[in-house]
Amino acid sequence: MEKNELLYEGKAKRIYATEETGVLWVEYKDSATAFNGVKKSEITGKGILNNEISSLIFANLQEMGVESHFIRKISETEQLVKQVSIIPLEVVTRNVIAGSLAKRLGIEEGTPLKKPVVEFYYKNDELGDPIITEDHIEILGIASLEEVNLLRKKAIKINEVLLELFLQLGIRLVDFKLEFGKDANGEILLADEISPDTCRLWDVKTNEKLDKDVFRRDLGDLKTVYTEILNRLKGVTAHV
Ligand code: C5P
Repeated sequence: MEKNELLYEGKAKRIYATEETGVLWVEYKDSATAFNGVKKSEITGKGILNNEISSLIFANLQEMGVESHFIRKISETEQLVKQVSIIPLEVVTRNVIAGSLAKRLGIEEGTPLKKPVVEFYYKNDELGDPIITEDHIEILGIASLEEVNLLRKKAIKINEVLLELFLQLGIRLVDFKLEFGKDANGEILLADEISPDTCRLWDVKTNEKLDKDVFRRDLGDLKTVYTEILNRLKGVTAHV
């Protein structure tokens, strides 16, 4: 497989066409960004870590019956994925109050939620990715109410699988962000990545933060904690 022209460059990844219709080539970059790109850094080796972590998680989800765009990892920093048209929503699922929800509700970070909460954010850099309701999603023509319900159901199922996976690693899955896309048949597939860039992951015993909050809040070395996540994942998942 050869990579062809660059189709899209985001904050963390570059996406290329391939010679095969419907197959894209994703390259993970070493950039770390936070606060809608206001805080930026280059961290050598971050792309390798997130490509491997995300590949392991997508492969694990696949084994548990969750379809995604992931095809296979092809190098340290690259993977092949199915082409989808990305639905411009960030689907955030939370098990514990943290981050923006702690601020919005005025409740202390670390407070467990009685049931998972699913939220939708409009992927729009100019607007700063605002939280939106199901009705707003319909008005904007992003998705129908049925599709929003399906996204919610998929997020809850993925949460169940990931909660169990991370618990095996001694990690509390606090919250995470998913993106979905539609394939050529109109089927909704999980897309983008799942990594410590997109999840809050706290050590069960020590509550140590093992995710991008280390970078956002200057709490330590990003590479050290991402390597810790990868090493724990390698212990329980089939290698990809
Ligand atoms: O900032 P907030 O508390 O809303 O983030 C919730 C979850 O979504 C966190 O795990 C965060 O890493 C993730 N997220 C993300 N990309 C964004 C916004 C949030 O991966 N643009």
